[in-house]
Amino acid sequence: MVDAREYHERTNHSPERLREMSFELDESNRPRPYKVYEVLPRFAPESEPDPPETPALAAVATDGADPPAAAPDPAGDPDIATLCHYAAGVTKELEIGGREMRFRAAACTGKLYHVDLYVVTGDCGEFSPGVYHFDPEGGEFDVLREGDYRGVLAAASGDHAGVADAPVTVVAASEWWRNAWKYRERTYRHAFWDSGTILANLLAVAHGGGHRAEVVAGFADDPVAELLGLDPDDEAPLALVPVGSGSAVSDGAETPEVDPIDPAERPLSEDPVDYPLVADAWRQSRLEDGDAAEAWRETFAHEVADTSLGERADDAEWVDLDPVDAETASARPVGATIERRGSCREYSHEPISARKFATVMDRAMRGVPADAFAGDLRGLVDCYCLVHAVEGVDPGVYEYHPGADELEWVREADREKAGHLALGQSVVGDAAVNVYLMADVDAVVSEFGNRGYRLAQLEAGIALGRLYLATYAHRTLGGRGFTFFDTEVAEYLSPHSDGQTPMTLFAFGKPA
Ligand SMILES: Cc1cc2nc3c(=O)[nH]c(=O)nc-3n(C[C@H](O)[C@H](O)[C@H](O)COP(=O)(O)O)c2cc1C
Repeated sequence: MVDAREYHERTNHSPERLREMSFELDESNRPRPYKVYEVLPRFAPESEPDPPETPALAAVATDGADPPAAAPDPAGDPDIATLCHYAAGVTKELEIGGREMRFRAAACTGKLYHVDLYVVTGDCGEFSPGVYHFDPEGGEFDVLREGDYRGVLAAASGDHAGVADAPVTVVAASEWWRNAWKYRERTYRHAFWDSGTILANLLAVAHGGGHRAEVVAGFADDPVAELLGLDPDDEAPLALVPVGSGSAVSDGAETPEVDPIDPAERPLSEDPVDYPLVADAWRQSRLEDGDAAEAWRETFAHEVADTSLGERADDAEWVDLDPVDAETASARPVGATIERRGSCREYSHEPISARKFATVMDRAMRGVPADAFAGDLRGLVDCYCLVHAVEGVDPGVYEYHPGADELEWVREADREKAGHLALGQSVVGDAAVNVYLMADVDAVVSEFGNRGYRLAQLEAGIALGRLYLATYAHRTLGGRGFTFFDTEVAEYLSPHSDGQTPMTLFAFGKPA
């Protein structure tokens, strides 16, 4: 039985562990990056995905469930097919080395795409009440159940108001083997990073379309897994996102009984390997029932956030940033931004403008709309920037203070060290800026339990996804998520970061 702190420690990357690792990928056993149900009926929405025109920079800048002022009033129910397509669908086909490669809306470690979306709906647009699985490859939906099962999610979430009032709730789940093939035990971390980039897109498209949407991290896991017909040893739910409002679950008929389902699935590869630590870590962070979910959320309400900016003994150590206002900011719509997004392979050493840097950070780092952060505590992660090339900002490591839009000097930085910290990937040092999202795993788990660890990783994953979108809203910028040596980063940023370790890393700048 593994505690999240122990899981985290056991799956840390260090140069020594990496050297000792004698693991070779077995290409012949590579899992399919999507699931195929053998016999389920399918539903193909008639309308093409039609994303909102709201600028991406406005759509990612929401810290609560409400859409931004720039979004239009919603024209009817949330458009489920558009939401799923721009969150997790195939948005690009490229020929690389003579092979057709299909790319998805959101970045994913190793391009393994292990996170799937399920939707639980009442009457919602073209969808009749039911439980569906989104097939990213074909853009269609597998029908798991017919009937209005939203009450199951409402009960599981402890009657969370957002879930109880939404015409549709999206559930993100990871099918472990699809990622564990390459990343083994680390897949539990990746589940939250890779669902985070998907949920960043989902929130942006929902908010851009004028709908309420938020992440609900507190829910009883087993009833949700049962509803979707998942065996958590293989695949498990990670987060709920209710979208839209004004469709109270209780207004409908009684919630039907949840009979067990176990729809046959085509094997992902010849010989899937089990990494029990992954499902074990997930199990140890489950919430028992709706009451437990509510009680877990309450623990956050009692925490008083430290929003002070620390001691300002020396003003010379602070840099005021000046993000552009909404009128001046890039107006690239959220849909076009997602279509354009990709992971930048090479960076030029040319500096980026201070205002673009400030705007990316300001819009992406406003705070994640999550159930647990409805009170004073606005998040579990802090943000550090290794600045290598920003006009008018001295190269160095800074803590970024969102809201205040200020950088606080931490120490000197150099490109070579930056590359080393990122698992020795020198390309990271070539970027203009490296953004580390950091959390104090010990403190998080002591305060908020193993479930808190999930949320810290997920918050950092969503911030990463928002950084991608805010970057790609700018014509001249590109970025990419990266992995790192945990302890080395923690040591490099200490004592300032005070016990925090990295959750995610994003590098951005001018593409070479
Ligand atoms: C959390 C996260 C970590 C990543 N880490 C690395 C990395 O260490 N090195 C790398 O080259 N790419 C990394 N990537 C980028 C993925 O390889 C990339 O997203 C994937 O190949 C899909 O391509 P796309 O982003 O262009 O759609 C990471 C992506 C994510 C979301």
